[in-house]
Amino acid sequence: MSRRRRIYEGKAKILYEGPEPGTLIQFFKDDATAFNAKKHEIIEGKGVLNNRISEHIFTSLNRIGIPTHFIKRMNMREQLIREVEIIPLEIVVRNVAAGSLSKRLGIPEGEILPRSVIEFYYKKDELDDPMVSEEHITAFGWASPPEIDDMMSMAVRINDFLSGLFLGVGIQLVDFKIEMGRLWENDMMRIILADEISPDSCRLWDINTQEKMDKDRFRRDMGGMLEAYREVAKRLGIMNENEPVRSKGPRLVSSKDD
Ligand code: TMP
Repeated sequence: MSRRRRIYEGKAKILYEGPEPGTLIQFFKDDATAFNAKKHEIIEGKGVLNNRISEHIFTSLNRIGIPTHFIKRMNMREQLIREVEIIPLEIVVRNVAAGSLSKRLGIPEGEILPRSVIEFYYKKDELDDPMVSEEHITAFGWASPPEIDDMMSMAVRINDFLSGLFLGVGIQLVDFKIEMGRLWENDMMRIILADEISPDSCRLWDINTQEKMDKDRFRRDMGGMLEAYREVAKRLGIMNENEPVRSKGPRLVSSKDD
């Protein structure tokens, strides 16, 4: 039996060759990392939860006409996705001050921003993903001005939709990070949402208690990360309380290349 080809391994996911040209399989690992992987732990079951939460969000976004790379979930840890040319930018949308914005500008965490703010970071581990401006993005050719416009309007639509989705289940969407890619269809290219949206890439606070329900629990050594992710999944109506996330599903046996 031949093993499938591994295309790329990131901190929290692996991409394998898909069953048909133009497709890939996205595998969600249990690895939790922060500060560019200086902090690392295995949180057993995290990959299963993120796979389900991201599936739910991408399916909902597809349904309202936001194009995404998601095709279908295959099993507990894997989803079939469209292969795209990833734009080397992390797009962060913020509604409430937190994290690096609070640190950089001295705005207390929890302060509602006068309007939603979009930021771009250059995806480059060696440089710790520095923040960049539209000037940098166009000057260095990472994306063109019309592509930036497209990404910003998609980011605003995603923010509006997700804010409502989470508010409906008692969760405040503080901020989130997304990645986008170019999809070529014959001679036509369009930008679609890629990667994942999960508590790894969002800040989610309980509306009533302000309790953190996201990766900050890991970044800030608060504990209870898996329980918080499970609660997000439960509130979104994805998993019932007793469904195990620790046992079944394909497991990564070796991370070595073939
Ligand atoms: P920040 O406040 O640390 O800049 O993070 C903003 C949002 O982006 C927050 O929801 C967490 C998310 N994020 C990632 O998904 N990956 C990253 O590498 C970083 C730094 C942040």
